[in-house]
Amino acid sequence: MSDSTTIRYGSMPNSFDPARSDELPGRVRRLVQRRSDVLGPGYKLFYERPLEFVRASGVRLIDAEGDQYLDAYNNVPSVGHCHPRVVEAIQRQVAELNTNTRYLDEPILNYSERLLATHAPGLSRVMFACSGSEANDLALRIARFVTGGEGIVVTANAYHGVTGAVSKVSPSLGDREPLGPYVRAVTPPPVGESDLAQAGSAFAQRVADAFDDLRRHGFTPAALLSDSLLSSDGLIPDPVGFLAPAADAARAAGALVIADEVQAGFGRTGVHMWGYQRHGVEPDLVTMGKPMGNGFPISAVAARGELLERFGQEVRYFNTYGANSVAIAAATAVLDVLEEDELLANARTVGAELLAGTTALAVRYPVLRDARGAGLYVGADVLDPATGHASTRLASAIVNGMRERRVLISSANRDGTALKVRPPLPFSSADAQELLERLEDVLATLS
Ligand SMILES: Cc1ncc(COP(=O)(O)O)c(C=O)c1O
Repeated sequence: MSDSTTIRYGSMPNSFDPARSDELPGRVRRLVQRRSDVLGPGYKLFYERPLEFVRASGVRLIDAEGDQYLDAYNNVPSVGHCHPRVVEAIQRQVAELNTNTRYLDEPILNYSERLLATHAPGLSRVMFACSGSEANDLALRIARFVTGGEGIVVTANAYHGVTGAVSKVSPSLGDREPLGPYVRAVTPPPVGESDLAQAGSAFAQRVADAFDDLRRHGFTPAALLSDSLLSSDGLIPDPVGFLAPAADAARAAGALVIADEVQAGFGRTGVHMWGYQRHGVEPDLVTMGKPMGNGFPISAVAARGELLERFGQEVRYFNTYGANSVAIAAATAVLDVLEEDELLANARTVGAELLAGTTALAVRYPVLRDARGAGLYVGADVLDPATGHASTRLASAIVNGMRERRVLISSANRDGTALKVRPPLPFSSADAQELLERLEDVLATLS
């Protein structure tokens, strides 16, 4: 139960309320109005006082007034905003050749071999697209083609993207975007559960029951589709390993296992390149996106080789911009930087510091509970100490208090009652300390 009455149709955690435009200063108010006129209400802004950025570098963003913000939210510029190596690779390639997968080209092969080498050994083939949504859309098509089934199981507040197909498997989009009749959304393990056997078996049982129910309703199982960090469910990284029994349950039901690594992938968790590896799962299909090109659109589906054999022969799939020459140049540079700047190690050490600091604050400030994290993805629940209930209002006060102190974080889960801290991977110990000091400052004002 939470104090949320505010998550309305189409709204999202930490979104700016256009009804409060009048409170904004002149230029910002005019920009908000122009956006609303030309882009319409579908385009949400973050924060009670929206931000306008004009430049960025590393983990810092500069706004139109020249003020600097510490970015502890954005995971797309994963190796750092405007990383010179990625910028240079894009600039060089776009001036030389930018074409598509209809022509022979060695860089895409070099990249694919390198990417697949980071995955579980059975995942021996890769197909490319432009967005995480497209990658999930393609993975679902492959799963349905291979199994001949339709039934999909996801987690209760999952988000897998915006295409017609994946919005039907994304309960976090809300009631106005109904799930497909062939979809079941299962409750994930509760935040704070530390007993692996209990969390794993209970979650697996819910997955098995969901597939049984689908069968009873005439839907043959096709896939379990899960974000390896359960980000939109409020970040549920622990207990490590709980996903494995659920994957077994899916396979026992005849479904394939799709790991959505759009959030967890490319080293975010600090120990492994991929979130599924952390859980000891060997998926049939893996979808990747966001950090893959550090902001240049590229996404992918890695698959067990045999799954793509018939699909590739019988189903025509050409994605005009997917893995074009510039996208591959950007993605190659991202892998270079991840390795050379040792960003997994950084995510591990700085993530641990951030989590330890957040845990210490949760001891001192009862408004925070269940600090949790994996690498540079840290979350905590916000509750109203007076009622003991999760609080959307206080989570929003913390997120906006941080914004006013020039640190970007956000909130997650269905009611927006969990803090979401997910910086670019070069986030340093000093950056973590800065964030924790500001957070303490905000928490002190709430007490
Ligand atoms: C887990 C997950 N899957 C898929 C997507 C969709 O990716 P995109 O916005 O690139 O289509 C997102 C986006 O937030 C995501 O978080």
